[in-house]
Amino acid sequence: MLAEQAAEAIAERTGVPRHRVAVVLGSGWQQAAAEIGAPHASIAMPELPGFGRPSAQGHGGMVHSVTVNDNNVLLLMGRQHLYEGYTPQQVVHPVSAAIAAGAEIVLLTNAAGGIRGGLRVGEPVLIADHLNLTARTPLEGARFVDLVDAWDPELRTLAKELDPSLGEGVYAGLLGPQYETPAEIRMLATLGADLVGMSTVLEAIEARSRGARVLGISLVTNLAAGVTGQHLSHAEVLAEGQAAAPRLGKLLRGILERV
Ligand code: HPA
Repeated sequence: MLAEQAAEAIAERTGVPRHRVAVVLGSGWQQAAAEIGAPHASIAMPELPGFGRPSAQGHGGMVHSVTVNDNNVLLLMGRQHLYEGYTPQQVVHPVSAAIAAGAEIVLLTNAAGGIRGGLRVGEPVLIADHLNLTARTPLEGARFVDLVDAWDPELRTLAKELDPSLGEGVYAGLLGPQYETPAEIRMLATLGADLVGMSTVLEAIEARSRGARVLGISLVTNLAAGVTGQHLSHAEVLAEGQAAAPRLGKLLRGILERV
């Protein structure tokens, strides 16, 4: 099994037999990693079995092992996306590997467009639920997975205790890579989406199928298409991540200290 092979390589290369928590740092979240702590071991993703090289700008391509209090934490710097041509299995492989390496808690971060009125650029929002609009699944064969409370209510409560200004929302995961049209955003709003992005939902499904608890945080890097008259760009997404890094880093560190 590829996930187990990768887990063995992670244990060997980091010298840590089990990492209890894994964090996926997506677009806009790379700089926040510095606030979590200094890694005692780092591995380039392509050196691990089954891992690819995250290619979207702003994705680091490293796996770091850090210790926060007594927790061994794996930081996955960047991810692979369906829109890059990867299969669902390839997209979720780092999460599968992290769980095989001991992760009982998976913290998924991403950049998202804000759909719901009142969301502000630079604001982190807890993912309370999702719409998987990729028409893909990482689950092969007949595995029925319950997704009620997929986004762990206790972990969300813990995050809100830490930062009472945190809001929650429903994240719509689309294939991309094009940003949405204003008409698509109106459709998503009607469907109940508060946030929109191009990642995360398959990872959450895979993590739940493997029994890990999942916490998700979106950074609102822009208001979704048509919400304002403005055009969207990946540069803006990254710039907002940079600006929000100290707050995001503190938030992640605080969560990792308490789980
Ligand atoms: N749409 C889709 N994905 C995104 C967006 C967006 O507006 N912003 C950041 N990722």
